[in-house]
Amino acid sequence: MRSLILEDARDLYEIRKTSFEDSWSEEEFVSMLFDKSFFGFRENHGFILCRKALDSIDIVTFCIDPKYRGRGIGKNLLSKLIKFAKENKCEIFLEVAEKNYIARNLYTSLGFREISLRKNYYKLKNGVQNAVVMKYKNIHNQP
Ligand SMILES: CC(C)(COP(=O)(O)OP(=O)(O)OC[C@H]1O[C@@H](n2cnc3c(N)ncnc32)[C@H](O)[C@@H]1OP(=O)(O)O)[C@@H](O)C(=O)NCCC(=O)NCCS
Repeated sequence: MRSLILEDARDLYEIRKTSFEDSWSEEEFVSMLFDKSFFGFRENHGFILCRKALDSIDIVTFCIDPKYRGRGIGKNLLSKLIKFAKENKCEIFLEVAEKNYIARNLYTSLGFREISLRKNYYKLKNGVQNAVVMKYKNIHNQP
């Protein structure tokens, strides 16, 4: 695992389009990675991209190529982000589709808690879906 760099834009574009209906262009990844507020971590087949503002981190996008899911890559990446957040005394926020039970399980198992619901947040091919907003718990009190 390593930190994301500008040269990862192409790979992030390729991996993300395997995972989400709405594809983000390579150029969009270039401009995000060029922006110093964005950072993240990657493995060969997955990555987590975040944005940091003061002591608050938002998970911008997080995905693993479907062929490589269920092997612990997602958990490793999220654990790395949590470690970074603790070291930098940051909170972590994210939005996840209400019916994305796999991702919600993963977040909950690593200590995220639901804090609110955004109605009709995602516009998908099959209709709209609510987003659950989650926050990493009591990060300032973690050892
Ligand atoms: C969510 C995602 C990143 C998880 O990555 P992954 O590498 O497959 O996950 P891991 O192998 O590390 O599994 C971690 C945990 O996820 C959950 N999980 C993984 N596969 C699961 C499955 N088929 N059913 C239920 N829970 C599952 C479990 O809690 C698991 O923990 P455990 O192994 O201790 O039981 C991946 O499924 C993905 O890219 N999904 C599509 C994009 C997405 O939904 N991103 C998040 C949007 S907010």
